[in-house]
Formats: sequence, structure tokens, C-alpha cells
Amino acid sequence: MYKLDRRVFLQQSIMAGAALSLPNQINALASSKINKVRIGMIGVGFRSHEHMGNFLQRNDVEITAIADPQQRSIDDALKVFKKYNRAKPAIYKNGDYDYQNLLKRDDVDAVVICTPWEGHIPQGIDALNAGKIVGMEVCGAMKLQDCWDIVNTSEKTKLPVMMMENVCYRRDIMAVLNMVRQGMFGELIHTQGGYQHDLRGVLFNDGVTAYNSGVEFGPKAYSEAQWRTNHYINRNAELYPTHGVGPVAMMMDINRGNRMTKLSSVSTKARGLHKYIVEHPKGGAAHPNAKVKFKEGDVVNTQIQCANGETILLTHDTSLPRPYNIGFRVQGTEGLWQDFSTGGLHQGFIYMEKKMNKSHKWDNTEKWLSEYDHPLWKKFGQKANSAGHGGMDFFVDHAFIECIKRGTEFPMDVYDLASWYAITPLSEKSIMQGGQVQKIPDFSRGKWQSKKPIFAMGDDY
Ligand SMILES: NC(=O)c1ccc[n+]([C@@H]2O[C@H](COP(=O)([O-])OP(=O)(O)OC[C@H]3O[C@@H](n4cnc5c(N)ncnc54)[C@H](O)[C@@H]3O)[C@@H](O)[C@H]2O)c1
Repeated sequence: MYKLDRRVFLQQSIMAGAALSLPNQINALASSKINKVRIGMIGVGFRSHEHMGNFLQRNDVEITAIADPQQRSIDDALKVFKKYNRAKPAIYKNGDYDYQNLLKRDDVDAVVICTPWEGHIPQGIDALNAGKIVGMEVCGAMKLQDCWDIVNTSEKTKLPVMMMENVCYRRDIMAVLNMVRQGMFGELIHTQGGYQHDLRGVLFNDGVTAYNSGVEFGPKAYSEAQWRTNHYINRNAELYPTHGVGPVAMMMDINRGNRMTKLSSVSTKARGLHKYIVEHPKGGAAHPNAKVKFKEGDVVNTQIQCANGETILLTHDTSLPRPYNIGFRVQGTEGLWQDFSTGGLHQGFIYMEKKMNKSHKWDNTEKWLSEYDHPLWKKFGQKANSAGHGGMDFFVDHAFIECIKRGTEFPMDVYDLASWYAITPLSEKSIMQGGQVQKIPDFSRGKWQSKKPIFAMGDDY
């Protein structure tokens, strides 16, 4: 009986927030708050360790079960449980579909999906149909219909999905969001982002060590090189849109008063990965992988148009030598910000026309972003600093758990997921058609016009 009540509560309360937005209804339901969230992890490779570490440090979370077909991943995951002195979870490791048995458990309220990209949507749909709340790692969809399928299943089951985009919580980005919300950039006109990260040492390895260790991919490789590289062989698209689009979507109120309406993408030729294999000490021109043809262009640019008249430019650039820089730019009628490295408060340039007396000179960002540090970082910064990716992982996991406990709407929901994931198949189609403009569907079926921004509005989560 307890289990049934608990599930119905979770369903009703979170969807009440999402679909109805009636404060009195939310409050009424929130009076039956839950104290502990029981999680099942689907996919326990590298990424999952960050989530599990954050969850297992909290006494309001239990990870009751994990699913992964690779023994090595299971063994590594169990080390995380040991590190935090937590009970061993139930294990599901009998092949690609054993996660479906995890979904049958009554002691799993929510699942977090950290699997290869092609698994995300089918596994998310199975989880919703099994009555579980879903937290979904980042990527792009395999096909446009997938985005509709997860929206439709979430609406049908009345269960929410959180898009777990950690970069939205990067400290510099949240400070800029704070400034945007205080009107310091004037009216926003244009933003840029993307994924500009040399992944050559991730896309290939020696099957033993994950990074920079060889030129193998697929079954002979380890971790992401097992599956991610295949996407570069078979597709030419903006393969990883959410790290770039998520943060600027929050600043531009995308899906909450604004929406992305159209995109067009162009791609360069593909040279970087082949050259990497040929020049690697464990590769060479005679290595079998030197014959592999890569479809993914080294640089893919995607221009997005928004309903309120702004543009977004996303750049996917992961096959060439380059220091890491997502390449954010936020530009309004009164100011401009650009980052140039990994997100430190000092790693950016800023120009505020009025406050800088029309100097036409860049200022370093450090004092600006420190002054406008987001309330969430002010409150949790110290706690967050030990978490992955410079602390931002703390916030995404914190939001996931707090929303479930409080029965409130996720700050990044299934409509965000669908519209961000949709960029991948739409960019693929656009590139195939020589850069033709593609319409981005309105996955909210009009609800974006009345929904209000809710991401990081205070210092709670
Ligand atoms: N947000 C971030 O900063 C960030 C960073 C890294 C990776 N990621 C994302 O996290 C996801 C996982 O990436 P990763 O680096 O952990 O990759 P990984 O290859 O290290 O781990 C993936 C795991 O999923 C398992 N798996 C495969 N099929 C499965 C199935 N049917 N059921 C259950 N488990 C299955 C694999 O055996 C492997 O252990 C990807 O979507 C990736 O893009 C996000």
C-alpha cells in the first residue's frame, strides 16, 4: 500500500507542477513530501560514477539497483558504493535488456540513464511505462520521432523526465544568467555555444586505458570508444548539442515564453580522426583503422532561429587539435560576454557599454562574475567544489533529488529534452540537403507560450 501511495504521489505531484502550474494544487500535494528517493542506475560506466558519488553522499538517497551488461563497469561501480560505505545494490548484468528487470522492482522510484546514446530514448520510454521517473544523460536523438515518443510517453504516463544537463550549472554561466535576468545585457539578440573539445583521445584507445592510449574503437576498445566513434562513421550532424544549447536556452527562456523554430547546419570535410590514427604511435598508415571513412565533418555549425527574433549558433568541433572551450557568447543590446576556456570566472571577456563608458575595450570577467555569482553557488559552492566537472554535477543531481522529494517540476523537463535532442537529427537532415532550413517541432504543443522560467530561480535547487 505504501508503495502504491508513494508512486501515485510522485506521479501526481510532479505532473501537477508540470502540466497545470496551479500553485494551490502543488502546495496541497507537497504536504505529503517524501524523505528518501530510491534510484536505479541504468548504465554504470564512467559518467555514472559522478552521479553515484553525489547520490551516495546524501542520506536522502538510496541506490537500490544497477544495470549494466559489462562486468568491468559493474566492478568499478561497486567500488563507488564501497568508497561511501553504502549497501551493495541489486545487480542486473545479463545482457542489453536486463535493465527491464530492474524496472520491475518496487524499490526504485526513479532511474538515471547513463548509457550509450542509442539506448537513451528506448530505455527512458521503458522506464516511464514501468512507472519510474527518469533522469536522462545528455546527447542528441537518433531520429526525430524519438523526441515525440518520449514526450508522448511522459504525457501518457504522467511521469516526468529530467534532462540532466550539467553545463547549465557551470559557475560562470550561472553568473551570466543572473546578469541576464537583471537586464544587464539589455535585450538578448544572439548567443553561441557548442561542444569544442578535442575528443580524439576519447574516441580511440587500447581497450585497457580509457584515454589517449591507442587507435582502437568498437568491441576492441573501452568506455566511450566502444560506441561513440561509430556515430562519427555513420552520421554527419551536430552530435552533442545539449552542453551548448542548454545554458543559452535558459538565458533565452526557450520553451518558456520563447522557442527554437528553425535550424540549418553546414559541415566541413572530415580529416582529423584519420590523421590521428595514421600519426599515432600505435596506429600508422598500415593499421586497419586507417582505412575507416569518417562521415562526421570536423566542424559542424548549426544556426538556430528563435520565435522572439534571436539566433543561436552551435559549433561541434571534436576531431581536431584544440584546447577545451565550449565557446559561449551572450550578446544583447547593452552588453556582450565570451568565455575562452573551461569555465573559470576569470576565463572570459566582457563588455558592458553603459557601465564601461563606451570604452570599446574588453574587461576580464573575474570581478563581474564574482559580483553576480548566482545564489545557488553562493549557498552550495563549497559543497559543490568536490563534485565532478568543477562542481556543476553537484547541482544537477541536487535538483533531481530535491524536485522528486518536494514533488515539484524539474528545471529541465521532457520538452527541453525533446527540443535539444531534436537538433541532432534535424542538423543531419539539413547537412544532407546542403544546409536547407529545417523546422523544429513545437513539442509542447503550444504550452511554451504560457510557461514561465523556473530554472534556478532561487537558492534551493
Ligand atoms: N554530462 C556530462 O558531462 C557527461 C560526461 C560524460 C558522458 N556523458 C554522457 O553519459 C552517457 C554515458 O557515457 P559514459 O562516458 O559513462 O560512457 P561509458 O561507455 O563509460 O559507459 C556506458 C555504460 O553503459 C553500459 N551499457 C551499454 N548498453 C547498456 C544497456 N543496454 N543497459 C545498461 N547498460 C548499458 C556500458 O556497458 C557502459 O558501462 C553518454 O550519454 C554520454 O554522452 C555526459
